[in-house]
Amino acid sequence: MKIFVTGGAGFIGSAVIRHIIAHTDWRVVNIDKLTYAGNLQSLASIAGNNRYRFVQADIADAPAMRALFEDERPDAVLHLAAETHVDRSIDGAAPFIQTNIVGTWSLLENALAYWRDLDGEARARFRFQHISTDEVYGSLGPTGLFTEDTPYSPNSPYSASKAASDHLVNAWHHTHGLPTIVTNCSNNYGPYQFPEKLIPLTIVRALRGEELPVYGKGQNVRDWLHVEDHAAAQLAILQKGAVGRTYNIGGGNERKNIDVVRAICAHLDAIRPQGAPHERLIRFVADRPGHDLRYAIDASRLQREVGWQAPTGFDAGLARTVDWYVANADWWENVLSGAYRTERLGLKSG
Ligand SMILES: NC(=O)c1ccc[n+]([C@@H]2O[C@H](COP(=O)([O-])OP(=O)(O)OC[C@H]3O[C@@H](n4cnc5c(N)ncnc54)[C@H](O)[C@@H]3O)[C@@H](O)[C@H]2O)c1
Repeated sequence: MKIFVTGGAGFIGSAVIRHIIAHTDWRVVNIDKLTYAGNLQSLASIAGNNRYRFVQADIADAPAMRALFEDERPDAVLHLAAETHVDRSIDGAAPFIQTNIVGTWSLLENALAYWRDLDGEARARFRFQHISTDEVYGSLGPTGLFTEDTPYSPNSPYSASKAASDHLVNAWHHTHGLPTIVTNCSNNYGPYQFPEKLIPLTIVRALRGEELPVYGKGQNVRDWLHVEDHAAAQLAILQKGAVGRTYNIGGGNERKNIDVVRAICAHLDAIRPQGAPHERLIRFVADRPGHDLRYAIDASRLQREVGWQAPTGFDAGLARTVDWYVANADWWENVLSGAYRTERLGLKSG
């Protein structure tokens, strides 16, 4: 098998590539534009493997994508390349429209042209697997879960652009027959996450003795999925998922943001008592405009039809993640030596 992974230098894409190299004999072509969120250091452990190739390219560059499909002849595409930070989509939506919608469309067109020319077994084997988010379903009240049949109701420019990309993928299946699968997952956490998202931002700022911003009162609930579990789920779906189907992927770990921040502080108190109590750094700040209250996933279809369930409990997964950021300060210090320095984003509309 040869897999195209788009966005493979990002947080989840790099976990998927490390997982494929470690657990299969497949070849991987990582197609990534290397935006601010792309970091090849996240792939240092496998970069020298002869089953891995990196290509710096934009998924919206149709001629470049066409040439790659023709030269490399993949068996599947795992499409993760995207603009992903809600706060950045509030400050400026253009890159979200361009990459998440136009880029996905361009990739679909190239995948379709390539797939139509395949024959026999290669044509039957080919999959275009699209990685999306539970944010397309909008916001839940205090109860209930998102199923694959929950109507789309995206609220942020980010989730609206991801919803559009999901619709395009489904349309290319229903109209053109392209063998696609869509996955909608909950919030991921784990090693190598760019420190603008809640968990790494909190860890990094706490390690530096800086204030820990919590939006609103920290009551927003997310269902946390360990990134290495997510990578394993992507492979299980690729091998056993049904064409044209959507699968929700969740960790079964619902937590309020404030409880996540407090748990990080408590773990740091245990391993870094010199900064304790880290909770003294918590500051409640202006809420994110349009902040969705609660996301929670019903992942029973994935369990029933693919036989996969997230194995990692949140407490153990979070402790391991904090330990990783403590042990790998060189990774995030290098990230923070660029343009982004953990400042507040996403308030330009307010
Ligand atoms: N992180 C999460 O919690 C989460 C949750 C649900 C869904 N998702 C989805 O999973 C996917 C991966 O998310 P992530 O957190 O790893 O994102 P990320 O921001 O860490 O990485 C995105 C990667 O895509 C690359 N990229 C951006 N635009 C590109 C373009 N035009 N062409 C080629 N490469 C481009 C970037 O360089 C980067 O390496 C996204 O599609 C996202 O919507 C993420």
